[in-house]
Parts: sequence; C-alpha cells; structure tokens
Amino acid sequence: MAFNRFFGRGRDASPTPPPPDELDARGHPDADDDESLVAPEEAPARSWRERAEAVLPTGASTGSKRTEALYGSADAVGPTHFVSARGCRVIDTDGERYLDCTMALGAVALGYAEPKVTQAVIEAVSQGQVSALSSWREVELAERLCAIIPCAERAQFLKTGAEATSAAVRLARTYTGRDQVIASGYFGWHDWSSDAAGVPAGTKRDVTRVPFDDLGALESAAAAAGNALAAIVLEPVVEHEPSAEWLARARTLCDAVGAALIFDEVKTGFRVAPGGYQEVCGVTPDLASFGKAMANGYPLAAVVGLAPLMESARRTWISSTLASEAGALAAALAVLDWHFDADIPATLAETGREMRAAVDRAIDASGLHGVHTAGVDTMWLMRWDDPARESRFLQHAVREGVLFKRGAYNFAAIAHDEEALREIEAAASAALVALAEDEA
Ligand SMILES: Cc1ncc(COP(=O)(O)O)c(C=O)c1O
Repeated sequence: MAFNRFFGRGRDASPTPPPPDELDARGHPDADDDESLVAPEEAPARSWRERAEAVLPTGASTGSKRTEALYGSADAVGPTHFVSARGCRVIDTDGERYLDCTMALGAVALGYAEPKVTQAVIEAVSQGQVSALSSWREVELAERLCAIIPCAERAQFLKTGAEATSAAVRLARTYTGRDQVIASGYFGWHDWSSDAAGVPAGTKRDVTRVPFDDLGALESAAAAAGNALAAIVLEPVVEHEPSAEWLARARTLCDAVGAALIFDEVKTGFRVAPGGYQEVCGVTPDLASFGKAMANGYPLAAVVGLAPLMESARRTWISSTLASEAGALAAALAVLDWHFDADIPATLAETGREMRAAVDRAIDASGLHGVHTAGVDTMWLMRWDDPARESRFLQHAVREGVLFKRGAYNFAAIAHDEEALREIEAAASAALVALAEDEA
C-alpha cells in the first residue's frame, strides 16, 4: 500500500468530509464524484472514529468528546464526528441529523454558526487575522468587559479557560509573593490545578482542594495556609448556587490575610449573567476568568480584575502568540452586541427550565427510578444511579436523534426553540421507554 504523506497510509484516509448537500441519500459521499473512495474489494473504509483512535492518543483532543466520555464505553453506538453544526442541530459524518443539548460543553450560548457572529468573524479575518501589531478589537473588547464585569478594571486575553484561570492564579501569586492556593471546582488541565499523572508533587502541595459550598473545609484550609495564602479560587456554581455564607466567607478570609479571591466564571460568564455570577451573588472577587460563551464557540478567554492585581502582569510573564487574533475577538464583540440588545441570560434560564421540565416529564411518564435532573436552569444535567443505564439511555436517545451530555451539563442556547423543546421531550420519552423495555 502506497504511503501518501499528506493523507496518511491507505486510501480510506480521505480529506475533509463533504458538506451535507453533497451526501447521497444514505448520507455518504457520491461515489461518482469522489475518486478517493476505496473500492470495496481493496479495503473497507474505516470510520472517522477508527481513524481518530489510530492517530489521536485518547481518540479526541477534547476529553469530553472521546467516545467513552460521550456514551460511557468505547464501543458504544453513537456519532463522534460532525460535518455541520447550525443552531442546535448537528449533522454527523454519516449524514445523520441530531438535536444537540450539550452546545459544545457550554461554549455556545447563542447557537452554532450564528450568522451575525459568523459574519463578524469573516469580516475580521478577511481584513487580516493577525499581524505584527495588536488588533484594535483587543482594546475595544477589554473596554467593554471592564464596563460589564463587576471586578474588571483591566483585562488580558488568552485562548482557553484553563489559560485564563492559570493566569489569574499566576497574577495572585505574583501580587502577594506567596504560593499557597485554596481551590474548589474544575479549572482545566494545567499543572497548578490538576492531580493527574505528570504533575510534580511540589506543585500539588501548594494547592489545597476544598469541596463546593463547604464552609468548614474552607475555614480549615485558610487556617492551615495562614499568611502563606496567595488566593482562594472558586468555581462559583457547581450544580447549584452556593450558600451566600460560603462566598462571603471566602471574601473575608482573603481580606484577612491580603490574599486574592478569584472566581472562575468560564461557565457562568455570559450565561448566568453577562458579568458572570459575581453580577448576581453580591460578592466581588479580585480576579476572574471568562471563556466559553463569551465568544460563542470561538477560541477566546480573558482574565480580568482589579488594576493593582492585574498590573502585576508586568512583573511576571503571561503571553500567547495568538492571544489577540482578530477572529475570536470579533466573535466576542458580536456576542456582546447581542447581550446589549437582549437579555440573553433570562432567555437561557427560561429555555433551560423548559428543557429540564421536558425531561422531568419524560422521566415521570416512563415510571423509571434511579434518574433525576439536577443543576441550575441554564445548565442542567441528568443524574443516574448507574452509569451502565445512563450509557444505554444515551444510545437510545441518539437513535431518537438527540444528543444529551453524559454525567455533565446540558446547556440551554437561544437556538433551542419551541420545536427543539418538543423534540427533546419526545426523544427523552422514547429513549426512557426503550430503556424500561430493556430492563423489563
Ligand atoms: C469552570 C471551568 N474552568 C475552566 C475550564 C477550562 O476551560 P478550557 O477547557 O477552555 O481550557 C472549564 C472547562 O470546562 C470550566 O468549566
């Protein structure tokens, strides 16, 4: 077999899949038009999932998009790769259509390929995505974030939520000259916040993890850290809103020793409120990180905060080559325009409430036990007593044309309209009935 150094080994390694309107009735590329298709006698074409598993060490660069993460097992039946995503609807590489409740892990709050955002990105990139100089959009967006987010007097852009939160911790450590951090939540894959293999033991020792909304654990950790405390970093909403005391105590514990309070608003920013949970909870952090919905699926994150803390950026080093690329900045500016024109978080909360109620009704009607919905309206999830049952449900739901998130949030989007809500209820109902039949 000839080795083609551009497309890999073997002729099934075709380049980009065709757009959906070039798929034949079975959802496959029209064989007459595509010379790269494999003749049946030569070798069966490998699926995109098989090809992914051969070249991507974990099967997908985003952990939550691995087949096991999507469906609970590596051999589960369900789509893994898409060719088109518009509104809340996805077409996979077999040409099958799905309604998506996951909205790319909450990265998209308006809808996929939202035309106003796409148009803004096209305009920006066609004028030059990057250059020797910074894009003017970086300044414009920083000014607008400072006007919207309670703690923001300065902003700096990065590409991912993990980067932005890591930057906040770096700034707090630089400002205070201390190392110890107390943390509660998920902050991405970077060393400072991870327990994973490969993280140096010394790095782990500098971070004390505390459970969400556990006042006693927070106080004990702060007492243990004493004057060595650089920051308390909190994900402010995890499945439910925290008690007012927990956040208020985090604030006073930081103030007592001159440490920084950091909110990770990567999920809550531009979703719970444009300015994040700090806009509604009555506690203002010193620093905060934003990402996900801020640019409706384009790669952009921001660390924002009080001027003295943010300006310690001059004494350390936080920088990335593409941090201020024009496309993602333009997407975020278009998102902010939407927030200016309409109360997006109110619509997301209402839509999420209806999505969740639809699934609650389906659960009640099925008579199944061991499953319930949880979360807050705008980001809600299904909790199962048994992962194997959850996996079977998800695969039944796929057959009904709906993608639900396994073990984590489904996210409401503006694109989830009345028709989508009806489809979600019908699919959840049919999938739960099918599961009940399996178990009968
Ligand atoms: C609260 C929170 N912080 C940080 C991150 C990491 O963001 P990213 O995956 O963009 O690095 C995530 C991702 O899910 C998140 O939910």
